[in-house]
Amino acid sequence: MKNKIKANNTEIAYRDRGEGKAIIFLHAFPLSQIMWDDQIDQLSTSHRVITFDWRGFGDSRLGDGIASLDLFADDLAALMDGLSIQKATICGLSMGGYAALAFFRRHGHRIEKLILADTRATTDTEEGRRGRFETAEAVRLHGVDVIVETMIPRLVGETSLKNRHHVCDKVRSMIKSADPETVAQALIAMAGRSDSSELLAEINIPTLIIVGSEDKLTPPVEAEFIRQGIPNSQMFIINGAGHLPNMESPADFNLAIENFLK
Ligand code: MLT
Repeated sequence: MKNKIKANNTEIAYRDRGEGKAIIFLHAFPLSQIMWDDQIDQLSTSHRVITFDWRGFGDSRLGDGIASLDLFADDLAALMDGLSIQKATICGLSMGGYAALAFFRRHGHRIEKLILADTRATTDTEEGRRGRFETAEAVRLHGVDVIVETMIPRLVGETSLKNRHHVCDKVRSMIKSADPETVAQALIAMAGRSDSSELLAEINIPTLIIVGSEDKLTPPVEAEFIRQGIPNSQMFIINGAGHLPNMESPADFNLAIENFLK
């Protein structure tokens, strides 16, 4: 069941299940907290697990819009305040990872342990940035259908494309139900995000980096860059999974987290 909470002039939809130390999951673009179903189901037997929709995504309201990823970080802090959570393990995947890094920059004292999955520390290239602006415009003009079929083979790995059709279907339905204006604003916010390469050396909390071996969007070389940059970090590669290993190989993903949190 989803609940709603007021945060920074908007309303955030979230799920809060289980007891014990809190772990909060930050979803990817252009998806929703539904991508964490396998994590909330399994990990809530031993932890307090929180999943939520970024403003404008899923069942959360866009409010005043997505000015930047820093606002996502502040929304997360407001959600934690609302749930009386002072400190938690933060797990961000891809765009969720960008937001987790912004959260470290702005509210780092509230992170117990950090999990960065299938993400990158660097900013976009000029070409990448241009592409995001073009896609934002196309989505505003024609709706999210223009990105659905091109995004699926980028988000899931080759193995899932062939053998895990239920994952592709679930990803497709999340993208199809995304709000076009939110998608456009999130693209522009991602294009404007800060470079976090220098920040990595300052991350002084236990950190786990996870990546799917078949991730084409943020391949293992990006994860290795993060691992080398964060002093107290470890890395786990999930074989046979792409950019969404938490959905493609949930048992491996959850086991990596359970071992890290022990
Ligand atoms: C995501 O999965 O969140 C996005 O692919 C991130 C990005 O577009 O950089």
